[in-house]
This record gives sequence, structure tokens and C-alpha cells, in this order.
Amino acid sequence: MPESIWYNASMKPFKYGCVVTGETFCPRPDLQKRLATCVKDGQNVVLVGERRMGKTSLVYSVCNGLKRYRMMYVDLLNIRTVADFCNRVATAAAQLGKKESFVSRALSFMARLRPTLSVDPGNGMPVVSVDSRMAEDPSSMSDVMALIEKFSSDERMFVVFDEFQEVKKLDAGDQVLAMLRGKIQFLQDTCFVFSGSVRSDMVDIFTNPKSPFFKSAMTISVANIPDDEFAPFLIERFKTGNRIADRAFIDAVFDFTGRTTGDVQQLCAAVWNTTEKGSRLSTADIKPALEEIFEQESGPFELQTTRLTRYQFKVLVALAKLGGRNVYSSEFMSAAEVPSSGTATKALQRLVADGLVFVHDKEYRFFNPFLRAWLINKGY
Ligand SMILES: Nc1ncnc2c1ncn2[C@@H]1O[C@H](COP(=O)(O)OP(=O)(O)O)[C@@H](O)[C@H]1O
Ligand SMILES: [Mg+2]
Repeated sequence: MPESIWYNASMKPFKYGCVVTGETFCPRPDLQKRLATCVKDGQNVVLVGERRMGKTSLVYSVCNGLKRYRMMYVDLLNIRTVADFCNRVATAAAQLGKKESFVSRALSFMARLRPTLSVDPGNGMPVVSVDSRMAEDPSSMSDVMALIEKFSSDERMFVVFDEFQEVKKLDAGDQVLAMLRGKIQFLQDTCFVFSGSVRSDMVDIFTNPKSPFFKSAMTISVANIPDDEFAPFLIERFKTGNRIADRAFIDAVFDFTGRTTGDVQQLCAAVWNTTEKGSRLSTADIKPALEEIFEQESGPFELQTTRLTRYQFKVLVALAKLGGRNVYSSEFMSAAEVPSSGTATKALQRLVADGLVFVHDKEYRFFNPFLRAWLINKGY
């Protein structure tokens, strides 16, 4: 029987696609210390990094390490309206673990928005929803901020706005940002952490002189975990899962994935899944692991690539095969079968806009290393 079936899910040595805590979290002492210091000092922070690098897991680890502080974690992913924003904030406040009577009293601070408190049948956690008509006006922000003020006056707390760039996408995004900034600057003792992806409006919100948040917080960048810290951690995780991995193998995993934390974990999870107990791992174990990943991901990959025009697809395949450094070389242009550099430029722009590739140091790179490998494997 494959080990993955009898191995309890919580015992799996590698996790991806979720926040990692406890033994599946590789310590990041420098970042954890810097963020914890900001929390204690009430210094606001912008946490930026590529997706899947570990921003959310980092804030959770800091929360776990600061026993005297509570974290109010507001996930702003996919908010569409000001009411959504208010709901997420109020729900995060209600989930701080306070008595129901305290929560109900606190909600009276936003009585104008007619909040209702209920319980999520899925996880038993409290959920707040406000009257959507009352909350469409950006000024309702002051009511939810009053709620944060109430909670932060009661005990030591820090507030995390995760995927903060989503605010900018709201119709009233700029107004909401201005209101938020106006309120936050009076909450001097409370640390606000604004977390988001580098490839988004995040950078603009904090660096554009016209933005209300211009230079309002200290930036902490979350890049990859240094190899010399991540490799021993992964070797140990393999050992826990009855596999023997050496540094050369881990380096091959790093090179393949481009070191994005979540991708490294995904590949290690697949290697673990597709090898036998007691195996000594080698680079030959990467191919079967990739096949497992292709099987899981082929649906989304097909969907992403069938939407493309012929030229866009050809350019994407050429990027997979030849890399993205010399996209106007004759070799690249003929591989991509594009008639002119203008056509190549247009196709590249669309691939960037679609979030399939991004530009780093004048090089086009895949967001997802497994998509690249999948294209090559398909023999396009
Ligand atoms: N410190 C860490 N140690 C081990 N794996 C990590 C760590 N941080 C992130 N990961 C891996 O990356 C994935 C994405 O982490 P997450 O915190 O959600 O990133 P982000 O918020 O930057 O998108 C996790 O599911 C996990 O596989
Ligand atoms: Mg995150």
C-alpha cells in the first residue's frame, strides 16, 4: 500500500498551499525577530515578497512567538466591495477569542452598519456580516476602525491586513485607502502589518508620493529562505518521513523550483509520495515526482494555455525551452515562429498580464516552475 494512504495527513512531512506552523515551518530567525520587534514597538510594516514565499506563515510564526500579543488577522483576498472589507475586519475581531458578550458590546461601535453575529457551520468560528447597503459608503471604514480601536485598547494586539493590495481594486479603493490611513495614524501603539505580493499594487500604495500610505511603514522583504538554512530543514523532514536526502539532492530541488518556498515544498511532497520507505533519494526521483504533479495540475495548466492565441502559446513554449533572457534573438524568434519582434512583444505582454510569467532583471520567468516543466514534458 502506498505510504501516503496510511500516513495520517497531519504527519506528512511536507505541506504546501496552506499556512505552515510548528515543525513544518522552517525557522526564519532574522525575519521573525525584525517583525516581532516592529510589533512590540508599534511600528507599522509592509511585508512584500513573491507569492508562496512564506509571508502569511511568517506572520503566524511571529504571533505564536509573542505570547502577550494577539494577532487580528484580516484576509482581504478577493474582496469586491467596501462591505466585504468591513465583514472581514469585523469577523477577524470576533475571532480573537473574546467572550461573546464582549464581542457583542464591541459590535455596538459599528451599530450603524447593522452587524449580525453568527457561527460558521463549517468550523464553528464566529462570523460577522454587515448590512451591505449601509456599508457601501467608504465612510463606514471609520466604524470598523472604531472596532479595532476598541479591541486594541483592551489588550496588546497587532493587526495584519493580508493581501492588502486588494483594497486598491475596489471601486472606491483610493477613498478607502485615504480613510484607512487617516484612522491608522491615530492608533500609534498598535502595529499594522500590510502584507502582499510584490507583483501587485502593493508597491505603488507605499511608494507612490500621491498615495496616502506613501512612506507610512517600514518595508520587510520576504525572499527565499537561504539554502544553508532550508536544506538542513528539508533533509530533516525527509528523515522524519523515512527518506534519506543529501545536500546534492536538495540542491537539485532548489535549482528546479527556483527556490520559491511553496514550490520547494510541493516538489518535496511529491518526491516523498512517490518513493518507498527507506529510499536514499537521488535526482532520478525528481521525474516520477513531477509526473505526479503534472497529473494533479494538468487541469489548470490546460485551462491556462488553451486560452492563449497561437503566437502567445508558441512564445510561452519557447520561454519554457530556451529561457527568457534573449527573447529577441533569432533562435528564440524562430523557435516561437513569430514573424516580427512586435508580435513577440505583444505575446509577451499578454503572458505577463495573464500572470503566467513575470520580468525579473530583464529576464522573463515562469511564475510556476511546474508549468514550464509540463510544457517541455508535453513535447510541444
Ligand atoms: N518558513 C517556512 N518553512 C517551510 N515552508 C514554508 C515556509 N514558509 C512558507 N512555506 C511554504 O510555502 C507555502 C506558501 O506559504 P505562505 O505563507 O502561504 O506564502 P505567501 O503568504 O507568501 O503566499 C506554504 O504552504 C509552505 O509550503
Ligand atoms: Mg499569503
